[in-house]
Amino acid sequence: MVSFFSTLSFFFVFLLCIHVSAAADTISANFTLSGDQTLVSSNGTFKMGFFKPGNSTNFYIGMWYQQLSIQTIVWVANRDKPVSDKNTSLLTISDDGNLVLLDNNNLVWSTGLNSSSSSSALEAVLQDDGNLVLRDDSGSLLWQSFDHPGDTWLPGVKIRYDKRTKKSQRLTSWKNTEDPSPGLFSLELDVSTAYKILWNGSTQYWSSGPWNPQSKIFDSVPEMRLNYIYNFSFVTSDTESYFTYSLYNHANVSRFAMDVSGQIKQFTWLNNNNQWNLFWSQPRQQCQVYAYCGSFGICNDKSQPFCQCPHGFSPVSRKDWDLKDYSAGCVRNTELRCSSRGEINEFLPLTNVKLPDNNNSEELVSTRCRSACLGDCSCMAYAQSSNRCLMWSKDVLNLQQLEEDNSEGSTFYLRLSASDMPSGSPSGKGNKVMIIGAVLGSLGVIALVTLAVVLILRNLRMKRMRGEKSDGTLAAFSYRELQNATKNFSEKLGGGGFGSVFKGVLQDSSVVAVKRLEGISQGEKQFRTEVVTIGTIQHVNLVRLRGFCSEGNKKVLVYDYMANGSLDSHLFISQKAVLGWKQRYQIALGTARGLAYLHDECRDCIIHCDIKPENILLDSQFGAKVADFGLAKLVGRDFSRVLTTMRGTRGYLAPEWISGVAITAKADVYSYGMMLFEIVSGRRNTEQAENEKVRFFPSVAATVVTKDEDIRSLLDPRLEGESVDIEELTRACKVACWCIQDEESHRPAMSQVVQILEGVLEVNTPPFPRSIQALVENDGSVVFFTESSSSSSHNSSQKQSHSSSSSSSKKTTNNNSSA
Ligand SMILES: *[C@@H]1O[C@H](CO)[C@@H](O)[C@H](O)[C@H]1NC(C)=O
Ligand SMILES: *[C@@H]1O[C@H](CO)[C@@H](O)[C@H](O)[C@H]1NC(C)=O
Ligand SMILES: *[C@@H]1O[C@H](CO)[C@@H](O)[C@H](O)[C@H]1NC(C)=O
Ligand SMILES: *[C@@H]1O[C@H](CO)[C@@H](O)[C@H](O)[C@H]1NC(C)=O
Ligand SMILES: *[C@@H]1O[C@H](CO)[C@@H](O)[C@H](O)[C@H]1NC(C)=O
Ligand SMILES: *[C@@H]1O[C@H](CO)[C@@H](O)[C@H](O)[C@H]1NC(C)=O
Ligand SMILES: *[C@@H]1O[C@H](CO)[C@@H](O)[C@H](O)[C@H]1NC(C)=O
Ligand SMILES: *[C@@H]1O[C@H](CO)[C@@H](O)[C@H](O)[C@H]1NC(C)=O
Ligand SMILES: *[C@@H]1O[C@H](CO)[C@@H](O)[C@H](O)[C@H]1NC(C)=O
Repeated sequence: MVSFFSTLSFFFVFLLCIHVSAAADTISANFTLSGDQTLVSSNGTFKMGFFKPGNSTNFYIGMWYQQLSIQTIVWVANRDKPVSDKNTSLLTISDDGNLVLLDNNNLVWSTGLNSSSSSSALEAVLQDDGNLVLRDDSGSLLWQSFDHPGDTWLPGVKIRYDKRTKKSQRLTSWKNTEDPSPGLFSLELDVSTAYKILWNGSTQYWSSGPWNPQSKIFDSVPEMRLNYIYNFSFVTSDTESYFTYSLYNHANVSRFAMDVSGQIKQFTWLNNNNQWNLFWSQPRQQCQVYAYCGSFGICNDKSQPFCQCPHGFSPVSRKDWDLKDYSAGCVRNTELRCSSRGEINEFLPLTNVKLPDNNNSEELVSTRCRSACLGDCSCMAYAQSSNRCLMWSKDVLNLQQLEEDNSEGSTFYLRLSASDMPSGSPSGKGNKVMIIGAVLGSLGVIALVTLAVVLILRNLRMKRMRGEKSDGTLAAFSYRELQNATKNFSEKLGGGGFGSVFKGVLQDSSVVAVKRLEGISQGEKQFRTEVVTIGTIQHVNLVRLRGFCSEGNKKVLVYDYMANGSLDSHLFISQKAVLGWKQRYQIALGTARGLAYLHDECRDCIIHCDIKPENILLDSQFGAKVADFGLAKLVGRDFSRVLTTMRGTRGYLAPEWISGVAITAKADVYSYGMMLFEIVSGRRNTEQAENEKVRFFPSVAATVVTKDEDIRSLLDPRLEGESVDIEELTRACKVACWCIQDEESHRPAMSQVVQILEGVLEVNTPPFPRSIQALVENDGSVVFFTESSSSSSHNSSQKQSHSSSSSSSKKTTNNNSSA
């Protein structure tokens, strides 16, 4: 002990004497870390020292990227044992042969080894890969931070399962944005070679599916197929199995993190924008994270913040809530009192919710559900489902608000003290009702007067808004007007990433398409600005925006109605009349012109981000009009969010969407190319024709085009006998093949596509696109972005040789034969 302290005081003296060079990467007997000192890895990639997360007053020893403008912590030594003063704390090698953190000479954190080495023989080196390594003078490794990851998975870290101890190593989220101590969410590898995300170390809410050694992907993560930046590898032996990755290009900066949101997120650093780009996360929807909003919290994927307390409830901890830790949930403002005399309790109905699953259900005549719950002091809530009475007596987890037209929505009755009930809802009985009646009566008069005034004011305002219309641009509609026009949103024309579309008839009897937007988190002013911008974008090949409605979170856009619907219904549905070749070519050309206008001729380049046949509308003359442009901007510039909402449309996505680079207009060019193939073939690229071998149309087409084979074989068989201009067909196929090149710079601009299709520009023979080749060669099976869940419209084609195919892929095969 004496020698220990004398060594320490020696350190302190030593510290005062030397001027510390910032470039040190090693802690040793004669170099320790305190105050503002830092370690920097030899190439300057990582830096280590004391840091304070956010507004916290605590200090931690952490590691971050030295060169990035945003301090991003990738590892923390003393996660749950902060120190309060960095000047009196010291990271050093202790006499017992460990790397330790001392605060006023008290041990805070240690590498915890039973080492026999003497302290003078040890050194801890911060390496360029972000690994802090403790080794002795013979160079043998005693401890490394890579074996003790926190929430971040850096390239080179092995996330392993130890087969002898049956223990998994975990990535664990921070508790909240200011507290690195282990939170409730963790990622680990399990025995069956699948990764899973757990809540509180036990409840699983996401799994990667088992590793498929042939195709080198996880079964439920098909998007791994089109990745060019990560070299993933899975290693298994008798004693352990682990998964690790490296970057093909060491200049790239990338990390995975188990986020406080309970999602595993993958980021790459974009040098041009100086920011992290989130391009992959699971589970996709925030509300799929188990118990994210805690007990009684309501999760809503369409609003920000995602968690809300029901009426009469408040967050248990407002502070945690503000730091994005919602796990403590909500608590009643007035505690329930339940006695035999029957306290006044009421039930607050929550409509369109997904019911929590931790109920104790009881078979009861439905009418008695309410009184059964009232009669049971432990009953917190109830719901009725046919003749079952579901009751909740403990925590109510995973309550989720659904959209109005979701068929899975139910009504959930939450027990509340009568005093907490919202005014105006049915309350107590007897006298109370009469009193309320009287109060309401007198209030009614006042209300009527108020209503009249409001209506008058509103009319005036509406008139002013109509003014906007008269100068030839956009009309502002009231929600009620649109409700009337669409007969209360009854005739649905289609759905989409941004909301459902309904047919409507305006008062001037013009027919319109009314889109009810979802997930718009923008403020009123910003929304209007964006909408006005979209309104100014007019082109014969773009669907015209006529007006909008913005009342609180009710955001609606009103478009010209297109008599012939969307392109997909004409291409893929056999009952309809077949589109002729001339019509198809004109549609392809019109679409290209519309996109070229968006990319080049608007003031700001607008990237559509979601080009597919569903978004190409046809007017009464079968003229093509691109729909849904500019909306990616409306939901904010966060393209990753758009990506997560583009379910089932992934067959059109360019590789850069999943490789993490910034998205440019060339991503639209790629999607356009994919769509052009479908216009030629008359069926989905991913679809398998009857009596035909597994084939992925773009690869077949690319082969034909690059090898100069018979171009006619690519044509929709339904066009047989029709006179088809072979030169046009060749041009279309070649340009499509150019559009789907991996390298963005190899793809033509939309304006060039227009010129090629017009015949103004010659087109050379394209090279075979590499990613398509990879897809085909991989193992013969083509699973082109099938959503792991239930998308059956985008069939994946599987060869029977696929030994590890799960039941879900078998199902897919069946679907294929029936499709
Ligand atoms: C640290 O001390 C050792 C001997 O104790 C010496 O050999 C070494 O040069 C010293 N390192 C530095 C950076 O002063
Ligand atoms: C560190 O820099 C050297 C020389 O500049 C280079 O050869 C080496 O690859 C770099 N190492 C890492 C991990 O970046
Ligand atoms: C820190 O506190 C200030 C003032 O209370 C607040 O505006 C800011 O957003 C906080 N920063 C973080 C990272 O929480
Ligand atoms: C720690 O030391 C630095 C410089 O030596 C000084 O500026 C700072 O105020 C000190 N912090 C505390 C909390 O004493
Ligand atoms: C160190 O030794 C103690 C007592 O011998 C033992 O309980 C502990 O498990 C050992 N720790 C390690 C990391 O081996
Ligand atoms: C997590 O699990 C532990 C027992 O394993 C339990 O004591 C604790 O209350 C749980 N935490 C939450 C937030 O439910
Ligand atoms: C990918 O990683 C494996 C295992 O680490 C390695 O053997 C292989 O050379 C790497 N491939 C490339 C192209 O870097
Ligand atoms: C990776 O590095 C290459 C070469 O520096 C660069 O072109 C590419 O954009 C980088 N990718 C990412 C995702 O940063
Ligand atoms: C209620 O609990 C029963 C039995 O635990 C379960 O079968 C049922 O699915 C639950 N109902 C809901 C709506 O979660």
